[in-house]
Amino acid sequence: MNLIMDDSVKYHVQDDIAVITINNPPVNALGHAVRAGLVAAIERAEADNAVAGVLIHAQGRTFPAGADIKEFDKPLLDPSLPAVCDRIEACTKPVIAALHGTVLGGGFEVALASHYRIAAAQAKIGFPEVNLGLLPGAGGTQRAPRLCGAAFALGLMLSGKQIGAFFAKKRGLIDEVTKGNILDAGLAMARDVIAKGTGVRRTLERRDGLKDPIANQSAIKDARSGIEGSVLLAPAKIIDCVEASLLLPDEAGKIFESIAFEDCLASDQSVALRHVFISERMAANVPELATGKVRNISSVGVIGGGTMGAGIAVSLLDGDLDVVMLERDAASLEAGLGRVVAVFERSVVKKRITEEDKNRKLARLAGTLNMSDLAGVDLAIEAVIEDRAIKEEVFAQLDAVLKSGAILATNTSYLDIDELASSISRPQDVVGLHFFSPANIMKLLEIVVPDATSDDVVASGFALAKRLGKIGVRVGVTDGFIGNRILKVYRLAAEYMVEDGASPYQVDRAMRGYGFGLGPFQVYDLAGLDIAWAQRKRHAATRDPDIRYTEFGDKMCEAGWFGQKVGRGFYHYEAGSRQGKEDQAVLDLIADARGAKGIKPRRFGDAEIQRRCVSAMANEGAKLLAQGIALRPSDIDVVMIHGYGFPRWRGGPMQVADQVGLMQLRSDLRRFDTADTQIWHPVEMLDPLILNGQGFGALN
Ligand code: 3HC
Ligand code: NAI
Repeated sequence: MNLIMDDSVKYHVQDDIAVITINNPPVNALGHAVRAGLVAAIERAEADNAVAGVLIHAQGRTFPAGADIKEFDKPLLDPSLPAVCDRIEACTKPVIAALHGTVLGGGFEVALASHYRIAAAQAKIGFPEVNLGLLPGAGGTQRAPRLCGAAFALGLMLSGKQIGAFFAKKRGLIDEVTKGNILDAGLAMARDVIAKGTGVRRTLERRDGLKDPIANQSAIKDARSGIEGSVLLAPAKIIDCVEASLLLPDEAGKIFESIAFEDCLASDQSVALRHVFISERMAANVPELATGKVRNISSVGVIGGGTMGAGIAVSLLDGDLDVVMLERDAASLEAGLGRVVAVFERSVVKKRITEEDKNRKLARLAGTLNMSDLAGVDLAIEAVIEDRAIKEEVFAQLDAVLKSGAILATNTSYLDIDELASSISRPQDVVGLHFFSPANIMKLLEIVVPDATSDDVVASGFALAKRLGKIGVRVGVTDGFIGNRILKVYRLAAEYMVEDGASPYQVDRAMRGYGFGLGPFQVYDLAGLDIAWAQRKRHAATRDPDIRYTEFGDKMCEAGWFGQKVGRGFYHYEAGSRQGKEDQAVLDLIADARGAKGIKPRRFGDAEIQRRCVSAMANEGAKLLAQGIALRPSDIDVVMIHGYGFPRWRGGPMQVADQVGLMQLRSDLRRFDTADTQIWHPVEMLDPLILNGQGFGALN
């Protein structure tokens, strides 16, 4: 008998086994139709006298990778996933789950609710809910500890990491692993269970993981101390739920879990983290992909082997591309290649890659001093110093040697790429690829699209980002693109507050308290104050005298306090230490600068500091949208999270603005807008959104 019940869940009976096939591409997420289909299929199998056992498996690339994240913001439709799992577990005929691909979250919970589990050797298993500010809410926190104990279950749920099938078997989460075809192996297991008459085996009735109560209790204690001081809600709730699995009867434990899940789901943190998950994937959806044809990129020339060039080369080699590095002289080339080698050697020492991996990657790297050696590359990325004349010269040379159809990219942070593009004969092939430092680690890639760039080149940029494991974000040409433009107003807001009375240490503490890893003045120290100083000096002649200018940064640079590299910046660094200490001399210098302007210092609370900084960012983000530089608010959030340390669990500045409400944002901005109008004056585009009761989210 072959019966198709629903497109997303298929059912047929093979011999005496009911085969339930989940079919909801791309990742078989457990959306409403799948949930309903699963319950119907289990009931059908149970009612069918010809069926002795049930096999659940999935078509396509993976067993369900979780609940459907896109449904979380809508009213829940029955059956809920916990109810589906309970129905599977309650089935009176043995249910076998055959797992492949990424068996994650709710998908893994369906597997745990089944009576037996077999996995393909390549399958990956995990509970990534914590990354969404959630916990396994379909019985996972109650079932997993009963199989593997509290410590291992907590490790999985708190880290969100995936483990391999063999490891999962070792820990009792899986019964068998197969290197063969997963469906065949699942059927064989089902036949075996039926033949042996082992019958149903309900996870909630098992005690394998509960045998050592002392170890389990100490795992709970360790986990609690591990998250001490964390502001995140989900980890604390996960620990509570696992503790409940040890102490409460299963029905009470499930209720405990469902209340905790609801709390997490409704939290601002989870709303923000889900927004980020969706935004990261949405960023790659750009108009040029509709018409652009991706050009083949297998070899890349990197011009400049400094901090960025070397990092970019590593990233390209990690993406299995051939790299030719070009430098201006032999010593610089040797240093540039040396930087690349050093990164891979460190990775070997840290056991991230093997010696063979390193050699394989380095075999793809070449160095040269001759531009003509780049004639055959598919893409050239220049990462020479930030000097327009030098970059134009490099572009002219590339224009002369590169083959037709090759892409010319610049890693400039600020320069006008439209001008750079129009300085050569093939502006349609020019794009900005703005990597972040360290380029081999940071996931963000701003893909800057000048006016004349062809859709093919944009599409190729996004394909490259994907190949390098990066998140590409489309940006229009403007001074500083998305990220550095927002960074600029963030810094201005911070500097104005310091000039008005806050100390840089208080601002840093407040922003760390907000969730940034480092405060803005710590970042200055890390990057070097001289870079921004040089830029300020370059722009001095054209600076608008009506725009407020803080002098203390210049005075610090005049004193040679360039930051960590010289042992002194906003903080004082003892020899060899990266841990800065507060410095009275800096406070005195700032007080003098304040005094010279006749500013009477006032007190700032941490909340005001945070609000000012984030409002300034959101207002600048709105300007970027109004100017068409950013495609959508969510792109701005992705840039700030992946490039500038904005706390992921807050969702980015635009998401924060939506959470407080645009009305509140505008009223804050108006309140702040007594001076420094260029950062505080509310952008006009806020008005129609507010009038329509909308947030930035409406523009996504
Ligand atoms: N729900 C809805 N859509 C999902 C999804 C999910 N759980 N997981 C992935 N998708 C979508 C993505 O949005 C993307 O859509 P798009 O093509 O329209 O952009 C598509 O599937 C492919 O995803 P990726 O681009 O991420 O593909 P990868 O191959 O790089 O990664 C993956 C696949 C490892 C499955 C990755 O998508 C992933 O980690 N997904 C999230 C898994 C997760 O968090 N599961 C837990 C959900 S919460 C839960 O289950 C609660 C329960 O306990 C009650
Ligand atoms: P860097 O000073 O470390 O490296 C520049 C390298 O270019 C040097 O090794 C130099 O020898 C080489 N070079 C100079 N002229 C050359 C020429 N004509 N031909 C070949 N090589 C030449 O500078 P860094 O920090 O790597 O920056 C490079 C570019 O990347 C700049 O445009 C910068 O704005 C941008 N950028 C820098 C970031 C950072 O955090 N450092 C982040 C993102 C972009």
